[in-house]
Amino acid sequence: MRQGAAEGPTSLTDQGEASPAKVVVVPESPDRPHVLMMSEITADGKLTLKKGSSSKILMKYMDPATEILLHRTRASLDAIMVGANTIRIDNSYLTVRLVEGKSPIRVIPSSMADIPLDANVLSPDAPTVIAVSEQAPAERVDAIRKRGAEVVCAGQGHVHLPTLMRILRTRYGVRKLMIEGGPTLNWHMLHHRLVDEIRLIHLPFIVGGADTPSLVGGMHIETEEEMIRLVLKDHYLCGTNLVTEYDVVYPPGQLKDEAGRIS
Ligand SMILES: NC(=O)c1ccc[n+]([C@@H]2O[C@H](COP(=O)([O-])OP(=O)(O)OC[C@H]3O[C@@H](n4cnc5c(N)ncnc54)[C@H](OP(=O)(O)O)[C@@H]3O)[C@@H](O)[C@H]2O)c1
Repeated sequence: MRQGAAEGPTSLTDQGEASPAKVVVVPESPDRPHVLMMSEITADGKLTLKKGSSSKILMKYMDPATEILLHRTRASLDAIMVGANTIRIDNSYLTVRLVEGKSPIRVIPSSMADIPLDANVLSPDAPTVIAVSEQAPAERVDAIRKRGAEVVCAGQGHVHLPTLMRILRTRYGVRKLMIEGGPTLNWHMLHHRLVDEIRLIHLPFIVGGADTPSLVGGMHIETEEEMIRLVLKDHYLCGTNLVTEYDVVYPPGQLKDEAGRIS
């Protein structure tokens, strides 16, 4: 496991009862938070019913015990991040509601500050940080700030995720971050080797669809050497849902960007 500090969330037994919290102690990085990617996923690896539809439709089929696991995980971390498109489609709150505990800081990268001003993530329920680029129009940035969110600039033409991670760690004291999708953000975070752990909630459905969002979008790889390997470290039933947990092992060398360039 890479740098960062993570205190694993409480896992649940197949009766949906809390078991003692797993504590994972890993060296801390001064540069970035430890990052957990967590997602609900169908048996065929999809995150929604079809392109453009909200993941809330699939989430209705999560076992109540697994919903509690999700909220308990949120409560155990300092910040939670989703991509701007998830906010535009799902209009998520990203708060802790089903268990006692503090909601984490909500972080949304949107290069041009393209967040609807009535988005639930701008509600006063929890602190929110919108990460933008230098190109973001000043009037949109001002409008977001007036809604109570903080806006940070983390890149020139687009949000540079390693820079954002550094800002979250150094300015906001974020030691543990969870990302909850979608596939575009997931791919960019993996591309920059910023994901340390993955936790998947397996939903027993097949939805199909060549363009239906799957766990990771972005560029395909060319060779097997470029595969990102996962080391299974735990699996358990949470209510009726299988949950799997992995450490992420990156290949030596560098990954390609969206244009297929080595970056
Ligand atoms: N099942 C699940 O667990 C789950 C979880 C979350 C989402 N989803 C689903 O995923 C779908 C949305 O996924 P998506 O892939 O279209 O979008 P996404 O990953 O949610 O958001 C991507 C957007 O984030 C913004 N962004 C800014 N800087 C970025 C950077 N450096 N790297 C990546 N993104 C950056 C960009 O929007 P700007 O143009 O504003 O810059 C980009 O288009 C929805 O259907 C949602 O329901 C499912």
